[in-house]
Amino acid sequence: MTTEQLAPIVRLAPAKVNLTLSVADRQRDGFHALHSVMVPLGLADRLSLARAAGREDSLHVVTGTDGRTALDPAGFGSVLAGIAAARRLVGRGADTFPLAARLEKRIPIAAGLAGGSSDAAAAIDGAVAAWGTTATPGDAARAGAEIGSDVPFFFAGGPALVEGRGERVDPLRSFAGPPPGILLVTPAVEVSTAAVFKALDDDPRAAPANRGSTRLTSEHLAAELSPGYPPMRADDLVVRAGVLAVANDLANAADLLVPGLRALRRALVRLLGRPIGLTGSGPTLWALYPSLEAAEEAARRVRDEHAADRLESPGARAPFVAATTIEGQGRTSA
Ligand code: C5P
Repeated sequence: MTTEQLAPIVRLAPAKVNLTLSVADRQRDGFHALHSVMVPLGLADRLSLARAAGREDSLHVVTGTDGRTALDPAGFGSVLAGIAAARRLVGRGADTFPLAARLEKRIPIAAGLAGGSSDAAAAIDGAVAAWGTTATPGDAARAGAEIGSDVPFFFAGGPALVEGRGERVDPLRSFAGPPPGILLVTPAVEVSTAAVFKALDDDPRAAPANRGSTRLTSEHLAAELSPGYPPMRADDLVVRAGVLAVANDLANAADLLVPGLRALRRALVRLLGRPIGLTGSGPTLWALYPSLEAAEEAARRVRDEHAADRLESPGARAPFVAATTIEGQGRTSA
C-alpha cells in the first residue's frame, strides 16, 4: 500500500445555484430539456474516503455546528452510489478495495442546491483517486449522470451552461476579481424535484410566467459568460440580478408546493431591497451581492428579523440562512 492510500482522500462537494433555469416540455424519456446557467458555491459538504476495515463500502454522516451530530446514512445513498459508479468506471483491472466514507453535511437537503448530486460527484472523483486510478472528467460525468441529472455539472470545474436532462455541460468563464457574494435562505421544508416537475406538467397554476423571456435571459447570460465577451465581475452580475431572479420556470410550481414561499420571497425583497431568485426546484431563495461581506450583512439582517418574529418562513424550524460566494472552481481538494 502506498502512502497516498493510507492518508484519507478529501474532497469538497460544493452546492450549486441556478442563475437561470429554462424548462421545455417533458421529453419521451420522462425528463424535461433544460437550459440553465449553473454556478458552484463556496458552501460545500466535505467528503473523506479511506480504506475500509471491512469487506464493503461504508458511510458515516455528521452535521451540526460541532460537526459531530450523526445523521442516518440511509438518506445519503448518493455517496455509496458514486463509489459504486467509480468502481464500474475504472474496471476490473484496478484494486478497487472497499472504502469507508465520512460525509460532513453542510448543504441543506432537498433544497435546490444539489447537495446530494455534488456528494455523488465528489465520491466518484475521490474514489478514483483513492484507488490510485484516473478517469477523464467526461467519463466521470457520464458515470455520474446515471445517479442524477445534476451530477455531471460538478465535473465542469466552475460555472457552466447545462442542457438536455442535465448531461450536456459546457463550461463558462469564471467571474473576474473578488468572487460575487450570495445570500441563501432555505425554509425548513424539503421539496421533491420530481413533484415540482410533475406540478409543472399537470397543474395550470404552475405554468411559468414567461417561458420565452426565461429562455432568452438564460441564452444571454450564457453568451456573456463565454470567451468572446469581456470577463464579468461581481458588480456586472449584481446589476443583472433583476432579470435573473425572474428567470426560473419552476418558480410557480415551487410556490404551489410550498405554501408561504411566495410570501417569504416578497418579504425578503422588502427587507433587503434586492431581487430574490429561486434555485432549481426550490425552496432555497437567493440574493446576489458584490462581496461576501455584503452577503454576510444581509444574512445577519434576515436572522435578526426572523428572531424578532417579523419574518415568517414556511416549515416548523427557522430557515437556514447562509452567506457564501460564487466560486470558479467546481470541486477542490481540501
Ligand atoms: O435526475 P434526478 O433524480 O435529479 O431527477 C429527479 C426527478 O426530476 C426526475 O425523476 C424527473 O421527474 C425530474 N426531472 C425532469 N427533468 C430534468 C431533471 C429532473 O423532469 N431535466
